[in-house]
Amino acid sequence: MESSFISDTEAVAAWRDELDRAGKKLVFTNGCFDLLHVGHVRYLREARTLGDALVVALNGDASVRELKGEGRPVNTAEDRAEILRALECVDRVVVFDEKRATRVIEAIRPHLYAKGGDYTPESLNAEEKAALDAAGTEIRILSLVPGKSTSATLKKVQNDENGGTATRKGPRLAVLGSGRGSNFEAIADAIDAGTLEAEIALVISDVADARILQLAREREIPAIHIEPGSEKGGRLGDAALKEIVDRLEAASVDLVVLAGFMRIVRAPLLTAFSGRILNIHPSLLPKYPGLGAWRQALESGDSETGCTVHLVDAGVDTGKILGQARVPILPGDDAETLHARIQEEEHRLYPQVIGEVLVNLSL
Ligand code: GRF
Repeated sequence: MESSFISDTEAVAAWRDELDRAGKKLVFTNGCFDLLHVGHVRYLREARTLGDALVVALNGDASVRELKGEGRPVNTAEDRAEILRALECVDRVVVFDEKRATRVIEAIRPHLYAKGGDYTPESLNAEEKAALDAAGTEIRILSLVPGKSTSATLKKVQNDENGGTATRKGPRLAVLGSGRGSNFEAIADAIDAGTLEAEIALVISDVADARILQLAREREIPAIHIEPGSEKGGRLGDAALKEIVDRLEAASVDLVVLAGFMRIVRAPLLTAFSGRILNIHPSLLPKYPGLGAWRQALESGDSETGCTVHLVDAGVDTGKILGQARVPILPGDDAETLHARIQEEEHRLYPQVIGEVLVNLSL
């Protein structure tokens, strides 16, 4: 894509070599820059001071849609490029249509790469990071302007346009799951039945073909797969955590509901949604945290077990307990019959506790 505001990537690569020969440094950054706000401007200005020229690689329209969801970008790539080029600190804008800026990084081989402080060197996308390392590019994370973001701007506009109440159908939930999604269904059914006043804004799974994604799509609820990364012990990778937070914020999510999500969450997700992440666990916590809880109850010869809804903290199933339901263990039960009985209670308990939490948080 080339226009008077969008430069050809090859031409910028040649320009980089010219600068290099003159002993000058090319600074590079990439992003969507959909609704330019003062946070962007300060960040770009600072990036420009790190070298002698600044190139912005702009996510094309398909790329923004893939990253941020339907309804984005608000402005086309041509318009976004024109706005960026009007800034004194921006020397060139190139556009890329893939999800990641890897190809332009490889082509331009910038001297320095700047990224906003919502990233850490670890949470940079692995593919982009590898391309930067291969090009010998120095990486600098710049500080963010607190409270200034495209999502915050969009939220404000939505609220203002609707006299402060917006067109929201209630508090916005995100459901994260890895499997069958029966708890997701129970929550969605409670919303449809009017017993839970909320809206499911987004479903996220770490498993590309998980049934929960299919069920969400059947209900026309935005549903996305996020590559979990290769961390050990069920931990989500830094890039995955960052992507999840971005998606939740872009969807103006109020409460995050884990429903069979087989990954351990941590910062920045825990910090961004502190006190607003719930989980359901198939035992009477603190008994039997972790995997196969109903099997453990059965093998221990207990006469009852149950399920627990709790707040998520940094531990495994250790957060504050918000609600529990008891389930008898019957003679002749096997793991399957017992889990099915527990799930019946889960489907009743989870929507109920979510409703209570929403009231307590005044959402
Ligand atoms: C439930 O048993 C829940 O307690 C556990 O994972 C299971 C999820 O089931 N955390 P589903 O995907 O909601 O059907």
